[in-house]
Amino acid sequence: MAMIALVSAASDGVTTTATALALSSRQSVLLAECDMSGSKLRHRLLRDIRLGGQILNGNIGLHKLAEAYWSSAAAGVQDLAPQVDAHLWPMDDSGRRLVLPGLTDPRQAASLTEVWPSLIEVLQMTDHTHQWDVIVDGGRLVWENGRLHPVLTPSPVLHQADVVLLVVRLADPASVYLASAAIEGLQDELGQHGNGARALGLLTLSSGSRREFSPREVEAKFEAEIMGSLAWDERAAAYLSAGGVPPRNLARSSLLRSARDVVGPLRAYAQRRRTNLDMRARSMSPAVLTQVRQLGMRRRGEGE
Ligand SMILES: Nc1ncnc2c1ncn2[C@@H]1O[C@H](COP(=O)(O)OP(=O)(O)OP(=O)(O)O)[C@@H](O)[C@H]1O
Ligand SMILES: [Mg+2]
Repeated sequence: MAMIALVSAASDGVTTTATALALSSRQSVLLAECDMSGSKLRHRLLRDIRLGGQILNGNIGLHKLAEAYWSSAAAGVQDLAPQVDAHLWPMDDSGRRLVLPGLTDPRQAASLTEVWPSLIEVLQMTDHTHQWDVIVDGGRLVWENGRLHPVLTPSPVLHQADVVLLVVRLADPASVYLASAAIEGLQDELGQHGNGARALGLLTLSSGSRREFSPREVEAKFEAEIMGSLAWDERAAAYLSAGGVPPRNLARSSLLRSARDVVGPLRAYAQRRRTNLDMRARSMSPAVLTQVRQLGMRRRGEGE
């Protein structure tokens, strides 16, 4: 239905927010844990969730797809979907919320370079053909020479996402100021290599307090749109980020209620963008598209 990636400038709550969105989606949903610094979910929320009596171990997850990719390639098989299926884990007992758990060791990140195109195809098929939402935990941004780091971020996935959301805590000046630096870099990155600068949006975490930055202030400051806001809710967030015993009435917590309000409009925005981009791509040759992109970039440069 839509591929939505979340990232942060300073570890501001990406995993918790991605998990809240996945648990709140009314559609079937695949949460892909592509944080190249390593999987937190496998040691936290997923720790107590069993599949056929088994607990999640290091034989399951994103890192194993590199091996699977090379053995499929050696056998002349292009489709990575069956291999990805074998590495999914349930988030709950609904049977329609699955996770691709992330790396067991950040040193595995480089092994994914060749795998991304095939994995992205599977994620897109999950979304376009099977009509699942795909939510990507893209982790904390790492830059190299002004670009997203090719190994320490899942940049190929971020390029292909319908929407990339930068998570920002309105109550935390460090989060707000570091996000402001990341926005320009991300807009350039997505404008040049991804689905366009407008694929980037902000997702704020807010308690609604007057002492926070206001959404209006942030939008004006950043020239980026706030596409949703989740409640600051320490009890529910502690469970989503640390696992353990779920709090009573988790589904009615302000965090999950706000996530439910956000996920539908986000999906609708992502779908509209994709339709527009598809229409433009069909009506323009690749050469014209490149010229239009370059013109857009030059105009933005002149406006600065
Ligand atoms: N909406 C929220 N309300 C209250 N606390 C939150 C919220 N979202 C996240 N937190 C808290 O912020 C901390 C960091 O969250 P999380 O692990 O999701 O961040 P992250 O961006 O994924 O970090 P990392 O880059 O280390 O993976 C956790 O203690 C979590 O409980
Ligand atoms: Mg995280």
